[in-house]
Amino acid sequence: MDGNGRWAKQQGKARHAGHRAGVETVRSVIEVCGQHGVKVLTLFAFSSENWQRPKTEVKMLMELFFTALNREIKRMHKRNVRLRIIGDISAFSDKLQQLIRESENITAANDGLLLQVAANYGGRWDITQAARKLAGRVESNELHPDQITESELAQCLSCADVPDPDLFIRTGGEKRISNFLLWQCAYTELYFCETLWPDFSKDDLLAAFQDYAGRQRRFGRTAEQMQ
Ligand code: FPP
Repeated sequence: MDGNGRWAKQQGKARHAGHRAGVETVRSVIEVCGQHGVKVLTLFAFSSENWQRPKTEVKMLMELFFTALNREIKRMHKRNVRLRIIGDISAFSDKLQQLIRESENITAANDGLLLQVAANYGGRWDITQAARKLAGRVESNELHPDQITESELAQCLSCADVPDPDLFIRTGGEKRISNFLLWQCAYTELYFCETLWPDFSKDDLLAAFQDYAGRQRRFGRTAEQMQ
């Protein structure tokens, strides 16, 4: 969800106005995904590296997560959305951690769109915490090092029970993954668009779906093998 800061600057506003406008886009993207049969939507809200931003911006983002979650959770529940936060939430305030747990509990039985919000998340963090779990199991003789396979490691990642993403969308013109779902994006189709996140509309999202529909996913095979 990149481009909030630049959007605010274009409007002659402070960066936090961009993040607030970004929440409106989050709402509409959830709605459109729900309507189009998307099973899992993962939004990158705050990376492990975002703590390095100015203190005032970090504080504002934490407050925004709290108010947005507090305000939107009923609407999500009504729309049958199941919420899950991925990332190291232990770094957040007790109040925010509690709201996250409550929100996840309220929506736990919903079977519509699974909305994963990556907060204090990093792909490297995810792989590291998975390695730590495996090391613990080796130490307790539950697992032999030879038994560490890709699937064993994948089962220790944050979204172990969820298929790898089909489509990755980054708004705001930058062409990088920025430590998002590194392991899970191995064969994900990448889509970059110039639109700044607060301006990212239903049509922009549908254009990304359309582009994805034209891709041939080969997973290492040849084009001929796919016919
Ligand atoms: C990146 O744009 C955006 C963020 C770091 C924050 C995104 C968070 C939201 C939209 C709030 C979401 C809330 C919930 C509850 C999911 P940027 O600031 O890097 O933009 P720039 O590159 O133009 O400076």
